[in-house]
Amino acid sequence: MELPEGYNFRRVKVTDHNEYLDVLRVLTTVGEINEAQFKELVDHWNSVEGIYYPQVITDTQGKVVATGCLVVERKAIHQCGKVGHIEDIAVCKLQQGKGLGLVLIQGLTAIAEKEGCYKVILDCSDHNVGFYNKCGYTHSGCEMVKRF
Ligand code: ACO
Repeated sequence: MELPEGYNFRRVKVTDHNEYLDVLRVLTTVGEINEAQFKELVDHWNSVEGIYYPQVITDTQGKVVATGCLVVERKAIHQCGKVGHIEDIAVCKLQQGKGLGLVLIQGLTAIAEKEGCYKVILDCSDHNVGFYNKCGYTHSGCEMVKRF
Protein backbone atom coordinates (compact mmCIF):
# COMPACT_ATOMS: atom_id res chain seq x y z
CA MET A 1 0.00 0.00 0.00
CA GLU A 2 1.24 3.51 -0.79
CA LEU A 3 0.57 6.88 0.80
CA PRO A 4 -1.85 9.24 -0.97
CA GLU A 5 -0.12 11.80 -3.21
CA GLY A 6 1.46 14.63 -1.21
CA TYR A 7 1.58 12.62 2.03
CA ASN A 8 4.95 11.82 3.61
CA PHE A 9 6.41 9.30 6.03
CA ARG A 10 9.28 10.90 7.97
CA ARG A 11 11.01 11.20 11.32
CA VAL A 12 9.43 13.51 13.92
CA LYS A 13 10.85 17.04 14.26
CA VAL A 14 10.92 19.38 17.26
CA THR A 15 8.60 21.73 15.32
CA ASP A 16 5.89 19.01 15.18
CA HIS A 17 5.22 19.67 18.89
CA ASN A 18 1.46 20.49 19.01
CA GLU A 19 0.40 18.43 16.00
CA TYR A 20 2.28 15.35 17.20
CA LEU A 21 0.76 15.50 20.69
CA ASP A 22 -2.74 16.14 19.32
CA VAL A 23 -2.59 13.01 17.16
CA LEU A 24 -1.39 10.95 20.12
CA ARG A 25 -4.49 12.05 22.09
CA VAL A 26 -6.61 9.65 19.97
CA LEU A 27 -4.61 6.85 21.60
CA THR A 28 -4.42 7.84 25.27
CA THR A 29 -3.82 10.59 27.83
CA VAL A 30 -0.84 12.71 26.87
CA GLY A 31 -0.88 15.47 29.48
CA GLU A 32 0.51 18.96 29.00
CA ILE A 33 3.95 18.82 27.40
CA ASN A 34 5.41 22.23 26.64
CA GLU A 35 7.72 23.09 23.75
CA ALA A 36 10.87 22.80 25.86
CA GLN A 37 9.88 19.38 27.22
CA PHE A 38 9.06 18.14 23.74
CA LYS A 39 12.38 19.42 22.40
CA GLU A 40 14.24 17.66 25.21
CA LEU A 41 12.44 14.41 24.35
CA VAL A 42 13.12 14.64 20.61
CA ASP A 43 16.76 15.57 21.31
CA HIS A 44 17.03 12.46 23.51
CA TRP A 45 15.53 10.24 20.78
CA ASN A 46 18.02 11.70 18.32
CA SER A 47 21.03 11.40 20.63
CA VAL A 48 21.08 7.60 20.69
CA GLU A 49 21.71 6.28 17.23
CA GLY A 50 19.94 3.16 16.03
CA ILE A 51 17.42 2.85 18.86
CA TYR A 52 14.49 5.26 18.51
CA TYR A 53 12.63 5.71 15.23
CA PRO A 54 9.75 8.09 16.05
CA GLN A 55 7.97 8.52 12.73
CA VAL A 56 5.01 10.56 11.48
CA ILE A 57 2.84 10.74 8.40
CA THR A 58 2.07 14.26 7.16
CA ASP A 59 -0.74 15.31 4.81
CA THR A 60 -0.60 17.52 1.71
CA GLN A 61 -0.39 20.61 3.95
CA GLY A 62 2.54 19.12 5.90
CA LYS A 63 0.31 18.57 8.95
CA VAL A 64 1.03 15.55 11.18
CA VAL A 65 -1.88 13.09 10.80
CA ALA A 66 -0.37 9.85 12.13
CA THR A 67 2.34 8.86 14.58
CA GLY A 68 4.21 5.70 15.52
CA CYS A 69 7.52 4.70 17.03
CA LEU A 70 9.88 1.79 16.50
CA VAL A 71 12.31 1.06 19.34
CA VAL A 72 15.17 -1.30 18.53
CA GLU A 73 16.29 -3.36 21.51
CA ARG A 74 19.75 -4.96 21.45
CA LYS A 75 19.81 -8.32 23.20
CA ALA A 76 22.33 -11.03 24.19
CA ILE A 77 20.17 -13.90 22.95
CA HIS A 78 20.07 -14.91 19.30
CA GLN A 79 23.73 -14.01 18.86
CA CYS A 80 23.33 -10.44 20.10
CA GLY A 81 20.10 -10.14 18.15
CA LYS A 82 17.84 -7.11 17.84
CA VAL A 83 14.10 -6.97 18.51
CA GLY A 84 11.88 -4.18 17.21
CA HIS A 85 9.08 -2.83 19.41
CA ILE A 86 6.25 -0.92 17.75
CA GLU A 87 4.76 1.69 20.09
CA ASP A 88 2.21 4.50 20.19
CA ILE A 89 0.43 4.08 16.89
CA ALA A 90 -2.19 6.74 16.26
CA VAL A 91 -4.00 8.08 13.21
CA CYS A 92 -6.04 11.27 13.72
CA LYS A 93 -9.80 10.70 13.70
CA LEU A 94 -10.54 12.42 10.38
CA GLN A 95 -7.90 10.38 8.55
CA GLN A 96 -8.74 6.93 9.90
CA GLY A 97 -9.90 4.27 7.45
CA LYS A 98 -7.79 5.57 4.55
CA GLY A 99 -4.93 3.09 4.82
CA LEU A 100 -2.55 5.40 6.73
CA GLY A 101 -2.28 3.05 9.72
CA LEU A 102 -1.31 0.22 7.41
CA VAL A 103 1.39 2.30 5.67
CA LEU A 104 2.70 3.45 9.05
CA ILE A 105 3.10 -0.14 10.28
CA GLN A 106 4.64 -1.19 6.97
CA GLY A 107 7.11 1.71 7.22
CA LEU A 108 8.13 0.95 10.80
CA THR A 109 8.40 -2.76 10.02
CA ALA A 110 10.64 -2.01 7.02
CA ILE A 111 12.97 0.06 9.25
CA ALA A 112 13.16 -2.85 11.72
CA GLU A 113 14.02 -5.28 8.93
CA LYS A 114 16.67 -2.91 7.56
CA GLU A 115 18.15 -2.57 11.07
CA GLY A 116 18.52 -6.37 11.22
CA CYS A 117 15.82 -7.16 13.79
CA TYR A 118 14.90 -10.84 13.86
CA LYS A 119 11.32 -9.99 14.90
CA VAL A 120 9.02 -7.06 15.66
CA ILE A 121 6.53 -7.18 18.53
CA LEU A 122 3.73 -4.96 19.81
CA ASP A 123 0.88 -4.90 22.33
CA CYS A 124 -2.64 -3.98 21.33
CA SER A 125 -6.25 -4.13 22.50
CA ASP A 126 -8.52 -6.94 21.34
CA HIS A 127 -10.43 -4.51 19.13
CA ASN A 128 -7.29 -3.75 17.10
CA VAL A 129 -6.29 -7.37 16.45
CA GLY A 130 -7.99 -7.30 13.03
CA PHE A 131 -6.01 -4.21 12.03
CA TYR A 132 -2.68 -5.79 12.95
CA ASN A 133 -3.66 -9.02 11.18
CA LYS A 134 -4.19 -6.91 8.03
CA CYS A 135 -0.66 -5.54 8.61
CA GLY A 136 0.73 -9.11 8.60
CA TYR A 137 1.11 -9.50 12.38
CA THR A 138 -0.13 -12.63 14.15
CA HIS A 139 -1.12 -13.43 17.71
CA SER A 140 1.72 -14.65 19.95
CA GLY A 141 1.58 -15.16 23.72
CA CYS A 142 -0.14 -12.71 26.04
CA GLU A 143 0.73 -9.38 27.61
CA MET A 144 1.52 -9.10 31.33
CA VAL A 145 1.67 -5.74 33.08
CA LYS A 146 2.44 -4.21 36.48
CA ARG A 147 1.43 -0.56 36.69
CA PHE A 148 2.93 2.05 39.04
N1 ACO B 1 -10.23 -3.82 13.58
C1 ACO B 1 -10.21 -4.54 12.44
N2 ACO B 1 -9.78 -4.06 11.24
C2 ACO B 1 -9.36 -2.80 11.21
C3 ACO B 1 -9.36 -1.95 12.36
C4 ACO B 1 -9.81 -2.51 13.60
N3 ACO B 1 -9.79 -1.82 14.74
N4 ACO B 1 -8.86 -0.74 12.02
C5 ACO B 1 -8.59 -0.82 10.70
N5 ACO B 1 -8.88 -2.03 10.22
C6 ACO B 1 -8.68 -2.55 8.87
C7 ACO B 1 -9.26 -1.61 7.82
O1 ACO B 1 -10.62 -1.88 7.56
C8 ACO B 1 -8.36 -1.91 6.64
O2 ACO B 1 -8.78 -3.11 6.04
P1 ACO B 1 -8.95 -3.22 4.42
O3 ACO B 1 -7.58 -3.04 3.86
O4 ACO B 1 -9.49 -4.59 4.22
O5 ACO B 1 -9.87 -2.12 4.05
C9 ACO B 1 -6.99 -2.19 7.27
O6 ACO B 1 -7.27 -2.59 8.62
C10 ACO B 1 -6.07 -0.99 7.29
O7 ACO B 1 -6.75 0.06 7.96
P2 ACO B 1 -6.23 1.55 7.94
O8 ACO B 1 -7.16 2.42 7.18
O9 ACO B 1 -4.81 1.60 7.56
O10 ACO B 1 -6.37 1.91 9.49
P3 ACO B 1 -6.29 3.36 10.16
O11 ACO B 1 -5.51 4.29 9.34
O12 ACO B 1 -7.65 3.79 10.56
O13 ACO B 1 -5.45 3.04 11.48
C11 ACO B 1 -5.60 2.54 13.81
C12 ACO B 1 -5.88 2.05 12.39
C13 ACO B 1 -4.13 2.87 13.98
C14 ACO B 1 -5.98 1.45 14.79
C15 ACO B 1 -6.45 3.82 14.04
O14 ACO B 1 -7.82 3.51 13.96
C16 ACO B 1 -6.20 4.53 15.35
O15 ACO B 1 -5.34 5.41 15.44
N6 ACO B 1 -6.94 4.16 16.41
C17 ACO B 1 -6.86 4.84 17.70
C18 ACO B 1 -5.51 4.61 18.40
C19 ACO B 1 -5.15 3.13 18.48
O16 ACO B 1 -5.94 2.29 18.89
N7 ACO B 1 -3.88 2.83 18.11
C20 ACO B 1 -3.31 1.49 18.14
C21 ACO B 1 -2.71 1.26 19.47
S1 ACO B 1 -1.72 -0.25 19.57
C22 ACO B 1 -0.08 0.27 19.50
O17 ACO B 1 0.22 1.43 19.61
C23 ACO B 1 1.03 -0.77 19.31
